[in-house]
Amino acid sequence: MTMDKTRVKCYSVADYEKQAELKITDTAALGYFNGGTEGTETLRDNLAAFSRYKLRPRHMRDISTINTKQRVLGCDIDFPVVVAPFAFAKMAHPDGEYAVARACAGMDTAFTLSSWTSKSIDDVTKESSTGVKWLQLYLVKDRRVIVNVVRKAERHGFKAILVTIDLKIPSNRLTDKRNQFTMGNSELLRSPNASIDDTDQFHLLSLSWDDISWLKSITKLQVAVKGVMTREDAIEAVQHGVDGIVVSNHGGRALDCVEASIDALSEIVEAVKHSGVDILMDSGIRKGTDVIKALALGAKAVMVGRPIVWGLAVDGENGVKSVLEILKNELRISMGLCGCQSLSDINQTVIKKSTSSRL
Ligand code: GLV
Repeated sequence: MTMDKTRVKCYSVADYEKQAELKITDTAALGYFNGGTEGTETLRDNLAAFSRYKLRPRHMRDISTINTKQRVLGCDIDFPVVVAPFAFAKMAHPDGEYAVARACAGMDTAFTLSSWTSKSIDDVTKESSTGVKWLQLYLVKDRRVIVNVVRKAERHGFKAILVTIDLKIPSNRLTDKRNQFTMGNSELLRSPNASIDDTDQFHLLSLSWDDISWLKSITKLQVAVKGVMTREDAIEAVQHGVDGIVVSNHGGRALDCVEASIDALSEIVEAVKHSGVDILMDSGIRKGTDVIKALALGAKAVMVGRPIVWGLAVDGENGVKSVLEILKNELRISMGLCGCQSLSDINQTVIKKSTSSRL
């Protein structure tokens, strides 16, 4: 057996990030995955914000069993970290979405296929037939396109549709402009010649909450909206029948200068607390302590995007699995040291907002 002597063992998501920067040699692809919008204020604050919350350890409790299992959007998963949709996975590794879907199935958590998948939905399902799968959708105006995609998702056993609502207008990504990076077309939303930069093709501009009610009316799949950052939108989402809300600023890739997702979470949890909808959050999760903080503030699960890209770039399916394992293990350690046996023990008593964000 030949050993890859150049491979450095990764023990954290940060290790994977460093290695991925060496692996993804296409500067434009790396810039696309890692970049944000305009001054990248939100991109940076998504990370910094977590250090403004401190954990409150609790000792001398029985933690001989720690259970991380969760049920979210009607699906049972082994731990509350699911894979966020991200476009063109094959730019990180030739196996692309196949590897990510298989890793999720192997780790017993949910995989979200992007509308901008680099492999077809049919092939992804063939290559990874088991495991919980969700589909991310841009609600294009041509309803025939949506019906077609939703029926495909149903046929392939997908369990939920996550509608991204925070990019009606393409955001201003300076790194991509400098690198002349352009998105390819979405095979899935096959309006002729459509691309994410072409809002006219997609007619996204006139979409409204009524389109969410319409989507709910045509499918029995769970429907969640991704990109909610205010109590007002959370209330609209509930009024229009969603099953879930993903508190997200798109990893700092949509509007810049919005607050960090972790800071927006409490406002949204409070606004819809009696509705029964599942709240997920993403943007900035890098460690198990980030996960427990999000759960303590009311999220049922978190989504991770860039960490998965990094694991994928470094070692394909095994790299993605390893990133998920790291996050699961770090969550278990954090739970144990906070005296929590199960996710239902994680509540506001576990966390405290700090007056200082100094590390
Ligand atoms: C697409 O959703 C992106 O953030 O590039």
